[in-house]
Amino acid sequence: MTFPEKDLKYIWHPYTHQKNMVSPLMIASGKGSLLIDDNGNEYIDAISSWWVNVHGHSHPYIAKKIYDQARILEQVIFAGFTHKPAVRLAEKLLRRLPKNFAKIFYSDNGSTAVEVAIKMALQYSVNNGQLKKNIIAFKDSYHGDTFGAMSASYRSIFTKAFDDKLFDVVFIDKPSKGNIHKIKQQITPFKNNIACFIYEPLVQGAGGMKMFDPEAFDELLAFMKQEQIICIADEVMTGFCRTGKMFASEYMTTSPDIICLSKGLTGGTMALGVTGCTQDIYDAFVSDEPSKTFYHGHSFTANPIACTAALASLKLLERKKCRKKIERILVQNKKFAERLRKSSYHRKIKNIRETGTIVAFEVITEQGDSYLNEIRDTFTPYCLKHGVYLRPLGNTVYIMPPYCIKKAELKKVYEVIELFLNETGTIPT
Ligand SMILES: Cc1ncc(COP(=O)(O)O)c(C=O)c1O
Repeated sequence: MTFPEKDLKYIWHPYTHQKNMVSPLMIASGKGSLLIDDNGNEYIDAISSWWVNVHGHSHPYIAKKIYDQARILEQVIFAGFTHKPAVRLAEKLLRRLPKNFAKIFYSDNGSTAVEVAIKMALQYSVNNGQLKKNIIAFKDSYHGDTFGAMSASYRSIFTKAFDDKLFDVVFIDKPSKGNIHKIKQQITPFKNNIACFIYEPLVQGAGGMKMFDPEAFDELLAFMKQEQIICIADEVMTGFCRTGKMFASEYMTTSPDIICLSKGLTGGTMALGVTGCTQDIYDAFVSDEPSKTFYHGHSFTANPIACTAALASLKLLERKKCRKKIERILVQNKKFAERLRKSSYHRKIKNIRETGTIVAFEVITEQGDSYLNEIRDTFTPYCLKHGVYLRPLGNTVYIMPPYCIKKAELKKVYEVIELFLNETGTIPT
Protein backbone atom coordinates (compact mmCIF):
# COMPACT_ATOMS: atom_id res chain seq x y z
CA MET A 1 0.00 0.00 0.00
CA THR A 2 1.22 3.52 -0.73
CA PHE A 3 1.24 6.19 1.97
CA PRO A 4 -1.85 7.95 0.53
CA GLU A 5 -3.65 4.59 0.47
CA LYS A 6 -2.63 3.91 4.06
CA ASP A 7 -3.78 7.40 5.00
CA LEU A 8 -7.22 6.73 3.54
CA LYS A 9 -7.34 3.39 5.35
CA TYR A 10 -6.21 4.53 8.81
CA ILE A 11 -6.81 8.26 9.28
CA TRP A 12 -9.86 10.42 9.91
CA HIS A 13 -9.03 14.01 8.92
CA PRO A 14 -10.55 17.13 10.52
CA TYR A 15 -13.22 19.23 8.78
CA THR A 16 -13.28 16.75 5.91
CA HIS A 17 -16.31 15.05 4.34
CA GLN A 18 -15.50 11.37 4.59
CA LYS A 19 -17.76 10.13 1.82
CA ASN A 20 -16.01 10.06 -1.55
CA MET A 21 -12.96 11.56 0.13
CA VAL A 22 -10.12 12.14 -2.27
CA SER A 23 -6.66 11.16 -1.23
CA PRO A 24 -5.02 14.04 0.69
CA LEU A 25 -1.86 15.59 -0.67
CA MET A 26 1.26 13.99 0.80
CA ILE A 27 3.51 16.82 2.01
CA ALA A 28 7.14 15.86 2.33
CA SER A 29 8.63 19.12 3.60
CA GLY A 30 8.17 22.83 4.10
CA LYS A 31 10.54 25.71 3.54
CA GLY A 32 9.68 29.37 4.01
CA SER A 33 6.22 29.95 2.59
CA LEU A 34 6.43 26.79 0.50
CA LEU A 35 4.99 23.33 1.07
CA ILE A 36 6.64 20.64 -1.02
CA ASP A 37 4.85 17.41 -1.90
CA ASP A 38 6.26 13.91 -2.34
CA ASN A 39 6.81 14.52 -6.05
CA GLY A 40 8.74 17.73 -5.47
CA ASN A 41 5.86 20.05 -6.46
CA GLU A 42 5.86 23.35 -4.56
CA TYR A 43 2.81 25.17 -3.22
CA ILE A 44 2.74 28.64 -1.68
CA ASP A 45 1.01 28.23 1.67
CA ALA A 46 -1.23 31.29 1.34
CA ILE A 47 -3.27 30.52 4.48
CA SER A 48 -0.28 29.80 6.78
CA SER A 49 -1.48 26.22 7.36
CA TRP A 50 -4.70 27.10 9.18
CA TRP A 51 -3.41 30.51 10.22
CA VAL A 52 -0.63 29.28 12.49
CA ASN A 53 2.57 29.70 10.53
CA VAL A 54 3.95 33.22 10.79
CA HIS A 55 7.67 32.91 9.95
CA GLY A 56 7.52 30.20 7.29
CA HIS A 57 7.88 26.45 7.52
CA SER A 58 10.79 24.68 9.25
CA HIS A 59 12.38 27.95 10.28
CA PRO A 60 16.01 27.09 11.14
CA TYR A 61 16.19 29.41 14.17
CA ILE A 62 13.02 28.02 15.79
CA ALA A 63 14.00 24.44 14.80
CA LYS A 64 17.38 24.82 16.51
CA LYS A 65 15.81 26.20 19.70
CA ILE A 66 13.30 23.31 19.75
CA TYR A 67 16.08 20.76 19.28
CA ASP A 68 18.23 22.29 22.03
CA GLN A 69 15.32 22.43 24.47
CA ALA A 70 14.29 18.82 23.69
CA ARG A 71 17.74 17.72 24.85
CA ILE A 72 17.52 19.74 28.09
CA LEU A 73 13.93 19.23 29.29
CA GLU A 74 11.13 18.00 27.04
CA GLN A 75 8.22 17.95 29.50
CA VAL A 76 7.53 18.30 33.21
CA ILE A 77 4.39 18.43 35.36
CA PHE A 78 3.40 22.09 35.81
CA ALA A 79 1.82 21.89 39.27
CA GLY A 80 4.42 22.36 41.98
CA PHE A 81 7.13 22.59 39.30
CA THR A 82 8.13 25.28 36.86
CA HIS A 83 10.87 25.89 34.29
CA LYS A 84 12.71 28.78 32.68
CA PRO A 85 11.00 28.72 29.23
CA ALA A 86 7.55 29.07 30.89
CA VAL A 87 8.70 31.90 33.18
CA ARG A 88 10.55 33.72 30.40
CA LEU A 89 7.58 33.45 28.04
CA ALA A 90 5.09 34.69 30.66
CA GLU A 91 7.35 37.65 31.43
CA LYS A 92 7.80 38.45 27.76
CA LEU A 93 4.09 38.17 26.92
CA LEU A 94 3.11 40.36 29.86
CA ARG A 95 5.52 43.01 28.62
CA ARG A 96 3.73 42.99 25.24
CA LEU A 97 0.13 42.67 26.46
CA PRO A 98 -1.93 45.69 27.55
CA LYS A 99 -0.67 47.16 30.84
CA ASN A 100 -3.55 45.81 32.93
CA PHE A 101 -2.48 42.17 32.32
CA ALA A 102 -0.77 40.43 35.25
CA LYS A 103 -0.95 36.61 34.93
CA ILE A 104 -0.47 33.95 32.27
CA PHE A 105 -2.26 30.59 32.37
CA TYR A 106 -0.94 27.96 29.94
CA SER A 107 -2.89 25.29 28.07
CA ASP A 108 -2.68 23.36 24.80
CA ASN A 109 -4.39 25.14 21.90
CA GLY A 110 -6.89 27.82 20.92
CA SER A 111 -9.96 25.94 22.14
CA THR A 112 -8.46 25.22 25.56
CA ALA A 113 -7.31 28.85 25.86
CA VAL A 114 -10.97 29.81 25.32
CA GLU A 115 -12.28 27.16 27.75
CA VAL A 116 -9.92 28.51 30.40
CA ALA A 117 -11.02 32.10 29.71
CA ILE A 118 -14.74 31.29 30.01
CA LYS A 119 -14.21 29.23 33.16
CA MET A 120 -12.11 32.02 34.68
CA ALA A 121 -14.85 34.57 34.00
CA LEU A 122 -17.64 32.35 35.35
CA GLN A 123 -15.72 31.34 38.47
CA TYR A 124 -14.63 34.94 39.05
CA SER A 125 -18.28 35.76 39.45
CA VAL A 126 -18.91 32.73 41.70
CA ASN A 127 -15.86 33.47 43.85
CA ASN A 128 -17.02 37.06 44.28
CA GLY A 129 -20.50 35.89 45.28
CA GLN A 130 -22.15 37.47 42.22
CA LEU A 131 -23.33 34.31 40.41
CA LYS A 132 -23.60 36.05 37.06
CA LYS A 133 -24.69 33.51 34.47
CA ASN A 134 -24.99 35.03 31.00
CA ILE A 135 -22.34 35.07 28.31
CA ILE A 136 -22.39 37.42 25.34
CA ALA A 137 -20.78 36.71 21.98
CA PHE A 138 -21.07 37.99 18.43
CA LYS A 139 -23.17 36.46 15.70
CA ASP A 140 -20.86 34.54 13.31
CA SER A 141 -18.32 34.03 16.09
CA TYR A 142 -16.06 30.99 16.18
CA HIS A 143 -14.09 30.16 19.33
CA GLY A 144 -13.11 26.52 18.92
CA ASP A 145 -14.40 22.96 18.93
CA THR A 146 -14.54 21.93 22.59
CA PHE A 147 -17.95 22.22 24.25
CA GLY A 148 -17.47 25.55 26.03
CA ALA A 149 -15.80 27.08 22.99
CA MET A 150 -18.53 25.65 20.74
CA SER A 151 -21.21 27.11 23.03
CA ALA A 152 -19.65 30.56 22.71
CA SER A 153 -19.54 30.14 18.93
CA TYR A 154 -22.50 31.15 16.78
CA ARG A 155 -24.76 28.21 16.00
CA SER A 156 -23.83 26.86 12.58
CA ILE A 157 -23.20 23.70 10.59
CA PHE A 158 -20.18 23.18 12.90
CA THR A 159 -22.36 23.00 16.04
CA LYS A 160 -25.64 21.63 14.62
CA ALA A 161 -25.30 18.07 15.94
CA PHE A 162 -24.65 19.35 19.47
CA ASP A 163 -26.87 22.43 19.71
CA ASP A 164 -29.10 20.98 22.46
CA LYS A 165 -26.01 20.18 24.57
CA LEU A 166 -24.49 23.67 24.35
CA PHE A 167 -25.05 26.27 27.05
CA ASP A 168 -27.05 29.38 26.17
CA VAL A 169 -25.22 32.42 24.93
CA VAL A 170 -26.68 35.81 23.97
CA PHE A 171 -25.55 36.52 20.41
CA ILE A 172 -25.36 40.19 19.49
CA ASP A 173 -24.80 42.05 16.20
CA LYS A 174 -21.32 43.04 15.15
CA PRO A 175 -20.52 46.71 15.71
CA SER A 176 -20.70 49.26 12.95
CA LYS A 177 -21.10 53.02 12.90
CA GLY A 178 -24.69 53.67 13.85
CA ASN A 179 -25.73 50.34 15.39
CA ILE A 180 -24.17 50.57 18.87
CA HIS A 181 -27.43 51.80 20.39
CA LYS A 182 -29.23 48.76 18.94
CA ILE A 183 -26.57 46.40 20.34
CA LYS A 184 -26.88 48.00 23.77
CA GLN A 185 -30.61 47.31 23.58
CA GLN A 186 -29.90 43.65 22.77
CA ILE A 187 -27.79 43.44 25.93
CA THR A 188 -30.04 45.44 28.27
CA PRO A 189 -32.45 42.62 29.30
CA PHE A 190 -29.49 40.61 30.63
CA LYS A 191 -27.47 43.56 31.91
CA ASN A 192 -27.12 42.75 35.59
CA ASN A 193 -26.46 39.09 35.03
CA ILE A 194 -23.66 39.00 32.45
CA ALA A 195 -20.48 37.16 33.40
CA CYS A 196 -18.53 37.94 30.26
CA PHE A 197 -18.41 39.07 26.67
CA ILE A 198 -16.17 37.02 24.36
CA TYR A 199 -15.16 38.32 20.94
CA GLU A 200 -12.68 37.98 18.10
CA PRO A 201 -11.37 41.53 17.78
CA LEU A 202 -11.75 43.13 14.33
CA VAL A 203 -11.71 39.90 12.27
CA GLN A 204 -13.96 36.88 12.78
CA GLY A 205 -12.02 34.00 11.26
CA ALA A 206 -13.90 30.75 10.74
CA GLY A 207 -17.23 32.62 10.73
CA GLY A 208 -16.23 33.91 7.28
CA MET A 209 -13.36 36.40 7.68
CA LYS A 210 -15.89 39.04 8.70
CA MET A 211 -14.28 42.37 9.59
CA PHE A 212 -15.58 45.26 11.62
CA ASP A 213 -14.83 48.84 12.52
CA PRO A 214 -12.43 49.48 15.47
CA GLU A 215 -14.04 52.80 16.42
CA ALA A 216 -17.56 51.44 16.78
CA PHE A 217 -16.16 48.40 18.56
CA ASP A 218 -14.26 50.60 21.00
CA GLU A 219 -17.53 52.30 21.91
CA LEU A 220 -19.11 48.90 22.55
CA LEU A 221 -16.17 47.75 24.68
CA ALA A 222 -16.37 50.94 26.75
CA PHE A 223 -20.06 50.20 27.38
CA MET A 224 -19.25 46.62 28.45
CA LYS A 225 -16.63 47.93 30.87
CA GLN A 226 -19.05 50.49 32.25
CA GLU A 227 -21.49 47.64 32.92
CA GLN A 228 -18.67 45.70 34.65
CA ILE A 229 -18.82 42.90 32.12
CA ILE A 230 -15.58 40.93 31.81
CA CYS A 231 -14.25 41.32 28.26
CA ILE A 232 -12.49 38.29 26.75
CA ALA A 233 -10.49 38.98 23.59
CA ASP A 234 -10.09 35.76 21.63
CA GLU A 235 -6.91 36.65 19.74
CA VAL A 236 -6.16 33.04 18.80
CA MET A 237 -6.24 34.04 15.13
CA THR A 238 -5.69 37.82 15.27
CA GLY A 239 -2.70 37.75 17.63
CA PHE A 240 0.94 38.14 16.63
CA CYS A 241 0.56 40.81 13.94
CA ARG A 242 -2.18 39.21 11.82
CA THR A 243 -4.04 42.50 11.78
CA GLY A 244 -0.86 44.59 11.49
CA LYS A 245 -0.37 45.33 15.21
CA MET A 246 0.94 42.75 17.66
CA PHE A 247 -2.59 42.25 19.01
CA ALA A 248 -5.80 43.42 17.36
CA SER A 249 -6.90 44.72 20.78
CA GLU A 250 -4.30 47.48 20.36
CA TYR A 251 -6.55 49.17 17.79
CA MET A 252 -9.03 49.96 20.58
CA THR A 253 -8.50 52.21 23.61
CA THR A 254 -10.44 49.87 25.92
CA SER A 255 -8.39 46.82 26.88
CA PRO A 256 -9.84 43.38 27.53
CA ASP A 257 -9.68 41.69 30.96
CA ILE A 258 -8.78 38.28 29.57
CA ILE A 259 -6.98 37.37 26.35
CA CYS A 260 -6.70 34.02 24.52
CA LEU A 261 -3.63 33.27 22.40
CA SER A 262 -2.46 30.29 20.35
CA LYS A 263 -1.78 29.61 16.62
CA GLY A 264 0.99 32.17 15.81
CA LEU A 265 2.21 32.06 19.42
CA THR A 266 4.83 29.40 18.64
CA GLY A 267 5.30 30.61 15.07
CA GLY A 268 3.00 27.75 14.15
CA THR A 269 5.49 25.06 15.12
CA MET A 270 3.99 23.58 18.30
CA ALA A 271 0.59 23.43 19.98
CA LEU A 272 0.36 25.87 22.88
CA GLY A 273 -2.42 27.96 24.38
CA VAL A 274 -2.23 30.99 26.63
CA THR A 275 -4.94 32.72 28.62
CA GLY A 276 -3.76 36.00 30.08
CA CYS A 277 -5.73 37.89 32.74
CA THR A 278 -5.66 40.99 34.91
CA GLN A 279 -4.68 41.15 38.58
CA ASP A 280 -8.33 41.73 39.50
CA ILE A 281 -9.44 38.46 37.83
CA TYR A 282 -6.56 36.58 39.45
CA ASP A 283 -7.21 38.03 42.92
CA ALA A 284 -10.68 36.45 42.99
CA PHE A 285 -8.98 33.04 43.06
CA VAL A 286 -6.63 33.81 45.95
CA SER A 287 -8.43 32.64 49.07
CA ASP A 288 -8.31 30.38 52.14
CA GLU A 289 -11.36 28.66 50.71
CA PRO A 290 -10.26 25.61 48.57
CA SER A 291 -13.38 25.80 46.39
CA LYS A 292 -12.15 29.14 45.05
CA THR A 293 -9.15 27.43 43.42
CA PHE A 294 -9.08 27.24 39.64
CA TYR A 295 -9.23 23.48 39.16
CA HIS A 296 -8.13 23.33 35.56
CA GLY A 297 -5.03 21.98 33.85
CA HIS A 298 -3.79 19.78 31.02
CA SER A 299 -1.09 17.11 30.95
CA PHE A 300 1.06 19.22 28.64
CA THR A 301 0.45 22.57 30.34
CA ALA A 302 3.38 24.91 29.55
CA ASN A 303 5.31 22.24 27.67
CA PRO A 304 8.95 23.46 27.75
CA ILE A 305 9.58 22.79 24.05
CA ALA A 306 6.43 24.68 23.05
CA CYS A 307 7.33 27.60 25.36
CA THR A 308 10.82 27.66 23.82
CA ALA A 309 9.33 27.72 20.31
CA ALA A 310 7.13 30.65 21.39
CA LEU A 311 10.13 32.56 22.75
CA ALA A 312 12.00 31.97 19.49
CA SER A 313 9.00 33.07 17.42
CA LEU A 314 8.57 36.25 19.49
CA LYS A 315 12.24 37.04 19.01
CA LEU A 316 11.82 36.79 15.24
CA LEU A 317 8.66 38.92 15.39
CA GLU A 318 10.58 41.66 17.20
CA ARG A 319 13.13 41.94 14.40
CA LYS A 320 12.90 45.03 12.20
CA LYS A 321 13.16 42.73 9.20
CA CYS A 322 9.93 40.97 10.17
CA ARG A 323 8.12 44.27 10.79
CA LYS A 324 9.16 45.42 7.33
CA LYS A 325 7.83 42.23 5.75
CA ILE A 326 4.49 42.66 7.49
CA GLU A 327 4.28 46.25 6.32
CA ARG A 328 5.05 45.18 2.76
CA ILE A 329 2.26 42.57 2.89
CA LEU A 330 -0.15 45.24 4.17
CA VAL A 331 0.69 47.49 1.21
CA GLN A 332 0.52 44.65 -1.34
CA ASN A 333 -2.81 43.42 0.06
CA LYS A 334 -4.30 46.91 0.00
CA LYS A 335 -3.33 47.34 -3.64
CA PHE A 336 -4.73 43.92 -4.52
CA ALA A 337 -8.02 44.71 -2.77
CA GLU A 338 -8.21 48.02 -4.66
CA ARG A 339 -7.50 46.23 -7.93
CA LEU A 340 -10.30 43.75 -7.24
CA ARG A 341 -12.71 46.58 -6.40
CA LYS A 342 -11.93 48.34 -9.67
CA SER A 343 -11.88 45.16 -11.73
CA SER A 344 -14.42 43.63 -14.06
CA TYR A 345 -15.06 40.90 -11.49
CA HIS A 346 -17.76 42.96 -9.82
CA ARG A 347 -20.47 40.50 -10.88
CA LYS A 348 -18.39 37.54 -9.75
CA ILE A 349 -17.23 38.69 -6.32
CA LYS A 350 -18.42 40.98 -3.52
CA ASN A 351 -17.47 42.39 -0.08
CA ILE A 352 -13.79 42.86 -0.88
CA ARG A 353 -12.14 43.70 2.42
CA GLU A 354 -8.78 43.67 4.10
CA THR A 355 -7.40 44.03 7.62
CA GLY A 356 -3.66 43.78 8.15
CA THR A 357 -2.25 40.69 6.48
CA ILE A 358 -5.71 39.31 5.63
CA VAL A 359 -7.69 39.92 2.42
CA ALA A 360 -11.09 38.34 1.83
CA PHE A 361 -14.08 38.43 -0.52
CA GLU A 362 -17.08 36.31 -1.42
CA VAL A 363 -17.44 34.57 -4.76
CA ILE A 364 -21.00 35.03 -6.04
CA THR A 365 -22.58 31.71 -6.96
CA GLU A 366 -26.11 30.37 -7.19
CA GLN A 367 -25.60 28.54 -3.90
CA GLY A 368 -25.32 31.84 -2.00
CA ASP A 369 -23.12 32.61 1.00
CA SER A 370 -22.52 29.35 2.81
CA TYR A 371 -19.75 27.26 4.29
CA LEU A 372 -21.21 24.42 2.22
CA ASN A 373 -20.91 26.35 -1.04
CA GLU A 374 -19.27 23.92 -3.45
CA ILE A 375 -17.00 26.50 -5.07
CA ARG A 376 -14.28 25.24 -2.74
CA ASP A 377 -14.31 21.84 -4.44
CA THR A 378 -13.10 23.46 -7.64
CA PHE A 379 -11.19 26.43 -6.26
CA THR A 380 -8.67 24.63 -4.04
CA PRO A 381 -7.62 22.02 -6.66
CA TYR A 382 -7.40 24.80 -9.28
CA CYS A 383 -5.03 26.82 -7.09
CA LEU A 384 -2.96 23.76 -6.20
CA LYS A 385 -2.56 23.02 -9.90
CA HIS A 386 -1.05 26.50 -10.21
CA GLY A 387 1.25 26.11 -7.19
CA VAL A 388 -0.81 27.96 -4.58
CA TYR A 389 -2.60 26.59 -1.52
CA LEU A 390 -5.83 28.37 -0.60
CA ARG A 391 -8.76 26.88 1.29
CA PRO A 392 -11.87 29.07 1.16
CA LEU A 393 -14.52 29.02 3.88
CA GLY A 394 -17.38 28.04 1.56
CA ASN A 395 -17.52 30.86 -0.98
CA THR A 396 -15.35 33.15 1.17
CA VAL A 397 -11.91 33.29 -0.40
CA TYR A 398 -9.20 34.74 1.80
CA ILE A 399 -5.43 35.11 1.89
CA MET A 400 -3.52 34.96 5.18
CA PRO A 401 0.13 34.36 4.29
CA PRO A 402 3.16 33.71 6.47
CA TYR A 403 5.09 36.96 6.96
CA CYS A 404 8.13 35.55 5.18
CA ILE A 405 6.20 35.33 1.89
CA LYS A 406 8.21 36.96 -0.88
CA LYS A 407 6.79 39.84 -2.91
CA ALA A 408 6.75 37.70 -6.05
CA GLU A 409 5.09 34.79 -4.23
CA LEU A 410 2.27 36.97 -2.96
CA LYS A 411 1.90 38.41 -6.47
CA LYS A 412 1.55 34.89 -7.76
CA VAL A 413 -1.19 34.15 -5.20
CA TYR A 414 -3.15 37.18 -6.45
CA GLU A 415 -2.61 36.17 -10.07
CA VAL A 416 -3.87 32.63 -9.53
CA ILE A 417 -7.01 33.98 -7.85
CA GLU A 418 -7.58 36.35 -10.77
CA LEU A 419 -6.96 33.57 -13.25
CA PHE A 420 -9.63 31.50 -11.52
CA LEU A 421 -12.06 34.43 -11.57
CA ASN A 422 -11.38 35.04 -15.26
CA GLU A 423 -12.24 31.45 -16.03
CA THR A 424 -15.35 31.38 -13.81
CA GLY A 425 -18.69 32.35 -15.28
CA THR A 426 -20.85 34.96 -13.58
CA ILE A 427 -24.18 33.94 -12.16
CA PRO A 428 -27.19 35.27 -14.02
CA THR A 429 -28.69 38.38 -12.35
C1 LIG B 1 -10.62 32.84 17.00
C2 LIG B 1 -10.36 31.40 17.26
N1 LIG B 1 -10.49 30.92 18.51
C3 LIG B 1 -10.24 29.63 18.81
C4 LIG B 1 -9.87 28.74 17.83
C5 LIG B 1 -9.60 27.31 18.18
O1 LIG B 1 -8.23 27.07 18.13
P1 LIG B 1 -7.70 25.56 17.99
O2 LIG B 1 -8.04 25.11 16.62
O3 LIG B 1 -6.23 25.68 18.23
O4 LIG B 1 -8.38 24.75 19.05
C6 LIG B 1 -9.71 29.19 16.52
C7 LIG B 1 -9.33 28.26 15.45
O5 LIG B 1 -9.42 28.51 14.29
C8 LIG B 1 -9.97 30.55 16.23
O6 LIG B 1 -9.86 31.04 14.99
